[in-house]
Amino acid sequence: MRKLARKLARVLPGKRGAAPPAGGTPRHADRPDVGPFLARAGPDALDGDPTVAEGWERYARGHQGEAGKHLGDEWNSSEKLGLTVPAGEIPHYLDRQVFGPFLGEPEVILEIGAGGGRFTTVLLPRCRRLIATDTSPTMLEILRRRFGHDGKLEVQLLDGRGLGGTPDASVDAVFSYGVFVHLQHWDIFNYIRETARVLKPGGKAVIQHANTFSELGWQLFLRQVQPSLNRHKHPWSFSLMTPEIMREFAVRSGLVVDRLETSVVPRDCIALLQKP
Ligand SMILES: C[S@@+](CC[C@H](N)C(=O)[O-])C[C@H]1O[C@@H](n2cnc3c(N)ncnc32)[C@H](O)[C@@H]1O
Repeated sequence: MRKLARKLARVLPGKRGAAPPAGGTPRHADRPDVGPFLARAGPDALDGDPTVAEGWERYARGHQGEAGKHLGDEWNSSEKLGLTVPAGEIPHYLDRQVFGPFLGEPEVILEIGAGGGRFTTVLLPRCRRLIATDTSPTMLEILRRRFGHDGKLEVQLLDGRGLGGTPDASVDAVFSYGVFVHLQHWDIFNYIRETARVLKPGGKAVIQHANTFSELGWQLFLRQVQPSLNRHKHPWSFSLMTPEIMREFAVRSGLVVDRLETSVVPRDCIALLQKP
């Protein structure tokens, strides 16, 4: 039995107590996809198989602010998303193309997983109150520092199990970007069901999620096969998701699908939903 345990410790990378790789190879060097994340979250970021929420909290803690940049600016990659607009203009471009025409000017917006505020900045001028939620206290602190002066912002810490701090039928819009791409399907379904609960009748939701079978989505999926084998979901990998599954989740939660937008951002899907 002890012999088996020693053997397993040698072949299971990243587990506590595992023998270091021969020749002093850095941990996770066999997972090139996680390099940019580990550079920010620190070399121990994957210790103990963190949940998606824990992984992002570690990322936020490891974030070293750069002058003139905000946490999240690094995810504006035109090339990765299949866009031709300059990286820095992506949030405003998407607002003009998709969010604005659909949302209009709702009174109260609830943002799920606001992070460093990459999209909060385009949502704030649209509403009178913005409830920015996140499972990461450090992200919320960063957000508060960035937008705290704006009397419209309210931050709310989530426990990853729903929108428990928000009453039924109390918000006009729900928005989420860059979050559902990482969540497992149970969490995606749960947040859609929660979205239906907190929206007022007639309220709208904009939810971006992965579109695994788009050309760019599939390339990303293939890159993430090897590093994902035989382990819990990596916090930063994309989940397998399609517009068809989103349609099912939305309809089964009592929402109407206005549009499943897959052409504006060729890699992803942006679901535009409404509560009847
Ligand atoms: C890639 S960041 C995106 C942040 C921001 N929306 C953006 O687009 O820049 C993912 C965010 O989701 C948050 N998050 C992770 N797990 C979550 C969960 N289960 N529920 C809500 N937010 C979560 C993370 O803390 C992080 O702020």
